[in-house]
Amino acid sequence: MEKQLILICLILSFVIYSGVIYTSGTTVNEPTSLLSEKAKRGKLLFHQHNCIACHQIYGLGGYMGPDLTNAISRTKHGAVVAEAFLKSGTQKMPNFHLQKEEIDALVAFLSYLDRTSNYPVTNYEITYLGTVEAKNN
Ligand code: HEC
Repeated sequence: MEKQLILICLILSFVIYSGVIYTSGTTVNEPTSLLSEKAKRGKLLFHQHNCIACHQIYGLGGYMGPDLTNAISRTKHGAVVAEAFLKSGTQKMPNFHLQKEEIDALVAFLSYLDRTSNYPVTNYEITYLGTVEAKNN
């Protein structure tokens, strides 16, 4: 008698669960990207000009120039500085002879990058799982 009761409960749960699964619909909310069309163009230019040969993102890349993860927010006038560097180059950074629109796109990409992370992580904690958790930098 007990076994039959358990079996009936299991069958009932299965039927209810299947009913819920098959009627709950399959629409998924599209994730909204932080990457605007302009920033996407900047990302492409970043690859085309091989900026990563000299610069790092999240600490990875070439080491001739500075890390660009937070180039925009590191200083008060980050965007203006980036624009100036991209416009004229320096003794060490080549002048890529970019159009104004290309410079704007690259700055938009760097601004996007800035919002994705903080690098280097200076304020962190090692969790009980042994992983590292960034605190608000
Ligand atoms: C040949 C190496 C080289 C390449 C390629 C290069 N850069 Fe640089 N960049 C540098 C160096 C070196 C500096 C530091 C300024 C200096 O010492 O003259 C710099 C500085 C900068 C700065 C200012 C950063 C800051 O916080 O002061 C930005 C922004 C920047 N580069 C963006 C770019 C972008 C975007 C590209 C690709 C289009 C690029 N760089 C390609 C070498 C390079």
